[in-house]
Amino acid sequence: MRFPEFAMERMQSTWEHRVTYDLSESGIEALTLDEAVRDLAALGKQRIGYANGMGRDETRSLVAAFHPAATRDNVLITTGTSEANFLALATLVEPGDEVVIVMPNYMQLHGVAHGLGATVREVWLGEESGWRIDLDVLRAAVTPRTKAVCVCNPNNPTGQVLTAAESGELAAIVSTHGGWLIADEVYRGAERTAPETATFYGSHDRVIVTGGLSKAYGLPGLRIGWIVAPPERIAAAWSMKDYTTIAPATLSEVLAEIALARRGQLLARATCGGSRPPRERSASSGTASPSIPSSSWTGSSRTGARWSCPARTSARRGTCASDSACPRPCSAAASTLSTARSAPWPTRPAACMAVRHSDARRRP
Ligand SMILES: Cc1ncc(COP(=O)(O)O)c(C=O)c1O
Repeated sequence: MRFPEFAMERMQSTWEHRVTYDLSESGIEALTLDEAVRDLAALGKQRIGYANGMGRDETRSLVAAFHPAATRDNVLITTGTSEANFLALATLVEPGDEVVIVMPNYMQLHGVAHGLGATVREVWLGEESGWRIDLDVLRAAVTPRTKAVCVCNPNNPTGQVLTAAESGELAAIVSTHGGWLIADEVYRGAERTAPETATFYGSHDRVIVTGGLSKAYGLPGLRIGWIVAPPERIAAAWSMKDYTTIAPATLSEVLAEIALARRGQLLARATCGGSRPPRERSASSGTASPSIPSSSWTGSSRTGARWSCPARTSARRGTCASDSACPRPCSAAASTLSTARSAPWPTRPAACMAVRHSDARRRP
């Protein structure tokens, strides 16, 4: 296996801790440990043994709770979304298989597919159509040799969100030839004014969803992610995980449970307390999701943010002031958090920042 250099990640890891201003930050401002937990002393009693390889039942149930068609048996806890993506693809693909990647995209699955010896076909979202997917182009790219179609929804880097109709058709196209859809949903919950994006899980039999705490939750350093999939894919991923990381980091999983139990609060923080419309019902409920207007895109420094916060350059210091130019001043987030049912949690809102982190690949 030879993996191509992951240029964007290498650039990030080389520079992100050395620069004064990081304009390529990819997620919501990270929480401090004090903000993440109520009772640090209780954490001190936690024994730091090996965690359960699958993840604890409680953690898996908390993840299943926002994937309505799933139970905890459909969930594997991983080390970040990165491991989730890796395991999802590496347990499906063999040399000579075809993998379709919807582009532009975070380039991990693209590189992993190459490393596994697959032929990669790119299907590009159209800039001229506001980054909407052309399902006819996708249909033409999927063949009986296609093991997986990889989509990132909400999309990194464009921020575009598929409609329920597009999602359903996309999943159906993929399964026509017996392939699997791998939907990277790590940006779910980072929508600023749009409803939370419905999960792909449950929209079709052959869907694998990946996600994690790194973006909207502001907890990238925990390195906690998940796969939500039918039991056979979970079993395959767990078998490979015995060779990669064995189990989640024990302390991270404890913190992940705390975060997931206050998920609504953290997602409110992520959107700066913005005027996000009521939560969209899940894809599995069969309710059509509205088409997301461009004004609600999560934004992208790569392709030009459609929405940008004037304070984002000071995000590293968490000084997002209630700037009159900001369409969703962060002071609103403080009141959202302080009036949340499970208060008192720390109420400092995240600094507004444009969401992005993507590979600088241009359409050829
Ligand atoms: C679309 C996408 N998927 C996965 C990842 C990796 O996420 P994690 O930090 O949870 O491993 C990133 C990181 O930027 C990303 O943008």
